[in-house]
Amino acid sequence: MIRGHGGNIHELARELGCDPGDIIDMSSNVNPLGPPEGLVDHLREHLDAITSLPQVDAAGIIRSFAAHHGLPEDRILAGNGTTEFIYALPLALQSRRALILGPTYADYGDACAMHDVPAAFLIADENRNFAPDVEAAVRMADNADTVFICNPNNPTGAFIPADDLAGLCRSRPNALFIIDESYLPFVDDGESHTLANRDLPNAIVLNSMSKIFRVPGLRIGFLTGPPPIIDRIGRYALPWSVNALAQAAVAFLMDNPDAQAEFIRGTRETLAAERREFESALSAMPSIQSFPTQTSFILLRLNGGLTAEGVCGRLARRRILIRDCSNFKGLSDRHIRISLKTGGTNRVVLEALHDIIRTGADRVPEKPRP
Ligand SMILES: Cc1ncc(COP(=O)(O)O)c(C=O)c1O
Repeated sequence: MIRGHGGNIHELARELGCDPGDIIDMSSNVNPLGPPEGLVDHLREHLDAITSLPQVDAAGIIRSFAAHHGLPEDRILAGNGTTEFIYALPLALQSRRALILGPTYADYGDACAMHDVPAAFLIADENRNFAPDVEAAVRMADNADTVFICNPNNPTGAFIPADDLAGLCRSRPNALFIIDESYLPFVDDGESHTLANRDLPNAIVLNSMSKIFRVPGLRIGFLTGPPPIIDRIGRYALPWSVNALAQAAVAFLMDNPDAQAEFIRGTRETLAAERREFESALSAMPSIQSFPTQTSFILLRLNGGLTAEGVCGRLARRRILIRDCSNFKGLSDRHIRISLKTGGTNRVVLEALHDIIRTGADRVPEKPRP
C-alpha cells in the first residue's frame, strides 16, 4: 500500500467535481517557476523517441551529468526518480539496522519496511525548530549501518551545512550515509553544500530533477557515491528505467548549463522574496507558527485548537490543496506544509487562512505534548 504521500490533486478534483487545473496545488514541492524555458518544446520535438527503446543503462545522461557536475562517471547512477534508489538501497546495501533523522520523508522508513530492515528514528525537537541534533545522530549512528538524512529536510525545511554533515559521515566510517539532496538546489549557494564531490567513502547522495526543474512526471534521479558502492547498487539497477523522454530532458538541461544556472539563480531569488513576504504575513497570525526553512516549502504549526484536518478541509473546499502533515512520524494533527507559489497565489492562500481562522474553523483542544 502506498500511504506516506500527500494531497492527491486528482482525488480532490473528483470530489469537488472540477478539473485538477482549477485547484491551486500547494501540496507538491515542485518549483513554481519551472519547467525551464524551452524544455517542454524540446520534449515535443523529441516525442518520436518513445517509439524506440531508450539507452538501457542511461549511459549518455550519466556522461552529461558527470561533466556538468565535474564528477567521474563511475561515481554515478541514473534512475527512475530518486524513488527507485530509495527503495533499492536497503536491499543493495544489505542494511541490517537503519537510522532515520526525522520528522522526514516517509519513503525512507517505507523502503526499510519493504526489506524488513529495522529502522530507528531520531526525531528533532520541535522546540528547537526541528534543527537536527547532529551530536545525537553521531551517538545513534553507532547502532546503525545505514543512515538516511534529507538535506534540506522535507517537511521541516531544516538544513545541515555540508561541513557538519561531512563531519558526521567521517565520525562513523562503518555506517553508510544516504544524503537526499532533492531540495538542495533551492538553497542559496546550494552547490557548495553537496556531499557529492567531497570524496567521502561512506556517503551516497541522491539528486532529483523532479523538484527543481518541475518535471516530477518524467521520473529522473541520480545517485552518486564511491565506485565500490556504486557497483553494489548498480547490480539492482533495472534496464531502461530512465525513459526516452526523461533522457531527452536531461540532455537538454545539461547541454544548456548557463541557462540552467540562471534558472536556478532566478528560482532562489524569487522564492526568497515570496518566503519573506509569506513569513511576515504569518507573523501577524498568532494561531499559526512557522518554522525556518531554506526551501520552497514551509512547515506550520496550528495553535489555539486548529487542526490540520480542519484547516486543510476548509482550504480544499476553496480549491486550495496543502499538505496535512499528521501522517509524518514525529509530527502531529497540528502540522501542515505549504509549498510556495508565485504571482500573488501565496497571498490568496494567506487570505484564505486568515479568513478560516477569523470565521472560527472547528477547534479541537490539543492533548498535552509528551
Ligand atoms: C525528500 C524527497 N526525496 C525524494 C523524493 C522523490 O522524488 P523523485 O523520485 O521524483 O526523484 C521526494 C518526493 O516528494 C522527496 O520529497
